Amino acid sequence: MSDTKMGFGIVGCGLVSQFHGAAIMNSQKAELIAATDPNAERLEEFIAKYGGEKAESFEALLADERIEVVNILTPNAMHADFAIPALRAGKHVIVEKPPEMKLSKTDDMIAAAEENNRKLAISLQVRFRESIRAIKGAIEQGRFGKLLEGDAYMKWFRPSDYYHMDDWRSKREQGAGVTIQHAFHYIDLLHHLMGPVKVVDARMTNLMHPDVALEDTLKAFLYFENGAEGLVEASTALWPGRPPRIEVNGADGTAVTEGEIVLAWDFRDERPEDEHVRQIGRGSVAAGGTGAADLSYEEHMWLVDDMVDAIAEDRDPYITAKNARHSLEIALAMYLSADAGEPVELPLPADVSI
Ligand SMILES: NC(=O)c1ccc[n+]([C@@H]2O[C@H](COP(=O)([O-])OP(=O)(O)OC[C@H]3O[C@@H](n4cnc5c(N)ncnc54)[C@H](O)[C@@H]3O)[C@@H](O)[C@H]2O)c1
Repeated sequence: MSDTKMGFGIVGCGLVSQFHGAAIMNSQKAELIAATDPNAERLEEFIAKYGGEKAESFEALLADERIEVVNILTPNAMHADFAIPALRAGKHVIVEKPPEMKLSKTDDMIAAAEENNRKLAISLQVRFRESIRAIKGAIEQGRFGKLLEGDAYMKWFRPSDYYHMDDWRSKREQGAGVTIQHAFHYIDLLHHLMGPVKVVDARMTNLMHPDVALEDTLKAFLYFENGAEGLVEASTALWPGRPPRIEVNGADGTAVTEGEIVLAWDFRDERPEDEHVRQIGRGSVAAGGTGAADLSYEEHMWLVDDMVDAIAEDRDPYITAKNARHSLEIALAMYLSADAGEPVELPLPADVSI
């Protein structure tokens, strides 16, 4: 490892690893030391593209003292299995979203981080999107006044093939389905922007993937603790797929974003900097609408750089597991509500499973 860059290790070289690989490769603060995956072909391909060494096993990767941060990129129900040993081995850890499939396993990861005084971040990188940071800043400055409405519309398309690429992609308990897998980022954004949720009322259907026993379409009402209301409409059935849309309305302002683009930015107290915000995202846009490859690595680079800075400054990472736990709770409540056909109140018991 060079003097100036922090060493990273990758566990899992599947679809999402390309974003982590490119993010680390392009970061001024991070260096890829090694990666591991039982799938030799994927591991080979990853190393060839992004550098680093092949670690013979997960244990070998943990034993490598050059590695300070481990990114866990395994399927959704296999995060804690790797994050907890990594934290116990003294590594800081970035876990892909959702944190896990159970709140109790998320709690175990949080406890392992605390007991070992290590940082634990969740890869909810959309929070770093410039348009989202602008909305978050305006909320913190009180520019929206009383928050009234926070909505997310994710009308995406994934062909049937997508659900058969890997075994876990068609099994709900392993983290497949539009709610926990795709809409999770936008459910998380509403939590991030609007605050905690107290009641969820959701319905789920399968509109056009009859060969998988999963929901491909979600509609959910959210009732936030602060009195605001929200709506999530998410689907992977709607060809060809559009960038996701986030809308926030308060008594004194309205913001609407589509992907990175700011479509509306209107406040009663217009400020000179507002003109700049209205130009955000007018360049290239890649927000995942038409396929997993329809994304850029830059938001993951924020995540990687933020972890390096959090370690150097001994502060929390921007997206803590503790905070992301509530986004998981909201998503799990959506399944419980849709199964029961009635609203579900939060908090949920930690051992609830779907
Ligand atoms: N943040 C995002 O925008 C984003 C995008 C896509 C996926 N994800 C998340 O990333 C995670 C992985 O998703 P994916 O689409 O890359 O899945 P994937 O199935 O393509 O990749 C997972 C990889 O983990 C590997 N693996 C399995 N067991 C392992 C072990 N014991 N040791 C090391 N590696 C092992 C598999 O061989 C596979 O290559 C999921 O949690 C998913 O939700 C996040």
